[in-house]
Amino acid sequence: MEHLIITGQKKLEGSVYISGAKNAAVAIIPAAIMANGICTIENLPCIEDVACLVDTLKQLGAKCDLSEKNILTIDSTNINSYTATYESVRKIRASYYLMGALLGRFKKAEVALPGGCNFGTRPIDQHIRGFKALGAEITIEHGMVKMSAKKLVGAPIYLDVVSVGATINIMIAACMAEGVTIIENAAKEPHIVDTANFLNMLGAKIKGAGTDVIKITGVEELHGAEYMIIPDQIEAGTYMIAAAISSGDVTVKNIIPKHMESLSAKLREMGCNIFEGDDSIRVVSNGNLTPTNVKTMAYPGFPTDLQPQMTALLSIAKGTSLLTENVWDNRFQYVNELKRIGCNITVEGRMAVIEGVSELTGAEVNATDLRAGAALVIAGLAAIGSTKIGNIKYIDRGYEKIEQKLSALGANIVRSAE
Ligand code: EPZ
Repeated sequence: MEHLIITGQKKLEGSVYISGAKNAAVAIIPAAIMANGICTIENLPCIEDVACLVDTLKQLGAKCDLSEKNILTIDSTNINSYTATYESVRKIRASYYLMGALLGRFKKAEVALPGGCNFGTRPIDQHIRGFKALGAEITIEHGMVKMSAKKLVGAPIYLDVVSVGATINIMIAACMAEGVTIIENAAKEPHIVDTANFLNMLGAKIKGAGTDVIKITGVEELHGAEYMIIPDQIEAGTYMIAAAISSGDVTVKNIIPKHMESLSAKLREMGCNIFEGDDSIRVVSNGNLTPTNVKTMAYPGFPTDLQPQMTALLSIAKGTSLLTENVWDNRFQYVNELKRIGCNITVEGRMAVIEGVSELTGAEVNATDLRAGAALVIAGLAAIGSTKIGNIKYIDRGYEKIEQKLSALGANIVRSAE
């Protein structure tokens, strides 16, 4: 079992280069199943979720080649199966995009219910509703979602909840439906726009991605294309918060500053100086942090995927902060682990009351999910002494070379095999 061991209280300084967006990559790779030709995807993050999806595509019959430069070519010509088993998809939530992609290509799909991080109920009813509206018949038997349609026909679909996954999944399948699909109350996250841009490069006709109404005019065939994935908003935010907690001076490079606005605003409120470049943000912190209140919301609101990291940061602010989680019903499971490092947090339903403390102290802790793991790393960076983080398979699912990137900024962090 590997661990990350951090000896805290080192000031982070310098530049860090942000990888491609996980949550765009995990949608774009399955979407390539529908292309009649070779897709070349650049700026792919080198993380476990991507490796897992590439394996799944290979099992379906695709030819995939991942280069050392994080460029993936996918040739889906010989895909001969529309079934993704539990064994191949259990590790990642985003395996649900195989449903939309296989349905689009074969008008049939059998995909095991997804696994992934556990922070409360994670239903897929909106995905299913959308596929049904496009004409699919769907049953769920023994943990497998079985879908089939004689043909897919475009339809108006109003999402009952703003769901990133349902928006992307329905958009993917609708590319191969006859006629027009309109998704209303769609999510607007940057990875939705990125997936739509990728599909349009393949010949799809998608308009309005990034707004709450997306119009998809179906086409008969999609072709191959080259595409470069956008930078990871959440990885960027994690390093910005790491800079803030370590009294650091860090330039986060290869990012889209607009995607970071909700976080930049909060860090400014807390007393950090934020300097925006064209594709970078510099965060300068003197460690004297003012408390603030944060509410997570769908984009462009404050991202739920930065909530645990922000809780760690607020733990050393001078006073009381309130953090309200509006997206997931149980995303505070990591709080007990943060408490071991000395954080003073009380959770009441969807709200965490965070009392700032004057110092954090290193401890042995376990990651309970991906972003929870990132929060422990951030707390460890500020703590006195050594923090040993277990269950780091979660962190590896979404952060490329985290210990190398942090070490290059001056952190004392090592991966140990014990
Ligand atoms: C995506 O998950 C992200 N994952 C999550 O990132 C992120 O936390 C989440 O969006 C919210 O931003 C990927 O993109 C792969 P949702 P997703 O459907 O699509 C409810 C990370 O750390 N809902 O937008 O699964 C649901 O219960 C992760 O990188 C339904 O009720 O999230 C939740 O309360 C983990 N019915 C809300 O909507 C549905 O059919 C938002 O979920 C679908 C969702």
